[in-house]
Amino acid sequence: MTFQDIKSELNHRDALAGLLWISEQIGRDARFSTSMGMEDQLITHWIGRQQMNIDIFTLDTGRLFQETYDLIDLTQKKYNIRIQSYFPNTGAVERLVNEKGTNSFYESVENRKECCHIRKIEPLKRALSNTKVWITGLRADQSKNRSEMELVEWDDQFKIIKYNPLLHWSLEMVEAFIKENNVPVNALHKKGFPSIGCAPCTRAIHPGEDIRAGRWWWEASAKECGLHTDKADSVVR
Ligand code: ADX
Ligand code: SF4
Repeated sequence: MTFQDIKSELNHRDALAGLLWISEQIGRDARFSTSMGMEDQLITHWIGRQQMNIDIFTLDTGRLFQETYDLIDLTQKKYNIRIQSYFPNTGAVERLVNEKGTNSFYESVENRKECCHIRKIEPLKRALSNTKVWITGLRADQSKNRSEMELVEWDDQFKIIKYNPLLHWSLEMVEAFIKENNVPVNALHKKGFPSIGCAPCTRAIHPGEDIRAGRWWWEASAKECGLHTDKADSVVR
């Protein structure tokens, strides 16, 4: 099936119907990446409850919050599913930490990009190799960069078809679904963390702040780590 075939099939289906179609027609050639965020948990709920034939994986950077690890554990048990963990290359992390220190990412944007590359981008490349469709929990109103994304698009960085089933959902819609369906979410959300990444690079936000203001808060960037931008090492400014 070509990119255009997949795009036209998914473009006229809602999120759940789209995922069911992928499960039936694409199966294990599609993989869903979860950071255990609210949107990801909603998608995982559907995959688990409907026993969909879609692989789920997470990038364990080694720097996640304990609350995130607890949620990985709880989610696997609740839905009787396996969330496959991808770790960074041992040698690359050892070189980084031994040469530049444990928290080098605070020192410069270049250092931060280097850490994200080692701990996220390279493992993501491995996770997506031999995969046809990459499913994400991205939403358009999370950031300016994401507002320009499409439901089904070609990702030039990873050379893969990317499907963002919740792209046009609002935060309110996600929260309502989660409440109604008792979907487990990260305990940190209640403590002022709407968007959660690595522990040293995420802080709680103040009332009225942008939902991504707590990510890489010391940088005046557009809050992207390079997973969802077309240039491997870019931060959209
Ligand atoms: S990030 O680029 O700023 O870290 P965000 O946390 O908003 O991304 O998550 C957006 C989507 O990117 C998630 O729905 C998920 O598909 C993917 N993603 C982000 N971080 C990870 C991770 N650690 N493991 C797997 N997927 C991730
Ligand atoms: Fe490293 Fe921070 Fe990027 Fe995580 S978010 S990979 S700790 S720089």
